[in-house]
Amino acid sequence: MEAAIIAKKISPSLTLAIDSKAKALKAEGKDICSFGAGEPDFDTPDHIKLAAAQALAEGFTKYTPSSGIPELRQAIAEKMKAENGVDYKPNQIIVSCGAKHSCYNAILATCNSGDEVIIPAPYWLSYPEMAKMAGAEPYIVQTTAENNYKMTPEQLQASISPSSRMVILNSPSNPTGSVYTENEMAALVEVALEDDLFILSDEIYEKVIYDDAKHFSIASMSKRVLEHTITVNGFSKSYAMTGWRLGYLAAAENIAKAVDSIQSHSTSNPTSFAQKGAVAALKESQECVAQMVKVFEERRKLILDGLNAIEGIRCVKPMGAFYVLPDISSFGMNSSQFCELLLDEALVAAVPGIAFGNDKTIRLSYACSTENIEKGISRLKDFCARIRK
Ligand SMILES: Cc1ncc(COP(=O)(O)O)c(C=O)c1O
Repeated sequence: MEAAIIAKKISPSLTLAIDSKAKALKAEGKDICSFGAGEPDFDTPDHIKLAAAQALAEGFTKYTPSSGIPELRQAIAEKMKAENGVDYKPNQIIVSCGAKHSCYNAILATCNSGDEVIIPAPYWLSYPEMAKMAGAEPYIVQTTAENNYKMTPEQLQASISPSSRMVILNSPSNPTGSVYTENEMAALVEVALEDDLFILSDEIYEKVIYDDAKHFSIASMSKRVLEHTITVNGFSKSYAMTGWRLGYLAAAENIAKAVDSIQSHSTSNPTSFAQKGAVAALKESQECVAQMVKVFEERRKLILDGLNAIEGIRCVKPMGAFYVLPDISSFGMNSSQFCELLLDEALVAAVPGIAFGNDKTIRLSYACSTENIEKGISRLKDFCARIRK
């Protein structure tokens, strides 16, 4: 028996595949330097774990409303008002099993079969696959290193067709680390609204931001923009809660309602006691976030200085998230060949840029120890010197 046509169109996640290969080699006793995983290497802060443990001990182990517990939806609404300048009511917020789930729900709730979803590349690798799973078509817009991998309004305009339904914006971006300014966002939004597109704004890395870069929430621009925007956020990256599987979206009431219906027939509620941990994450001290970002900032400097000292590599300075995307095209290999050789010969795991729609680059996550960065970059340097000959 054959799998369904849509299922056969979907590629498995290459980041997870590289991560598993690196882990398997490690298990065989190989000394691998891994830059594959897109998750903070810190543990979840204690006060968050404690809140979930307490909920568990108190028997908070039953189904909750499928859209999340009222206490959490209220806390998210308050957070979005205070930090993002957006006025959502709790019934416009749906809590899901990770921001990944929220993005997928958002696409399912808005896109019809055959609609086009505009995605600037390099992109987070799940967006095109999610569009395909919803029966829609990804429409990829290539950005350039010269423009810090940001889509221009002209590029967006040129990519719009009668089938366009949605544009996905992700700032700070995985994998480029680019952060759009308020003016850059406003120019894109103007084009998107002229053609009545939905905007999926994935803001999962909003707190992981450096130097003078500022996070800007699209939905804060106006009521009309808010009605066109689905804001996605979550707990994985800001609070080191990847395994908890908790994210959320905020949208116009009719879209939030549609997402709730979809969720109620697919996963139902995200894990009950995990939601109590998320309430603590939002309501208690944010010092843990600032501490993590400070460490990421030091690692960013370390990895960038290391990469910039390697002949043949060019790297855009990331302003957010915890990835670098060096251009390796001067070595005369595509990104998969480069990563395969790098892992086999230098025991360094990185993700080929092709997974993100750009075959000239590789992605390194610096959500790992300074020792790993120092050793890995030194190996990469030797490897690059060897293959240049
Ligand atoms: C851009 C982006 N959006 C969403 C997600 C999903 O996050 P979560 O772990 O909350 O599902 C990720 C995770 O890597 C991501 O990089």
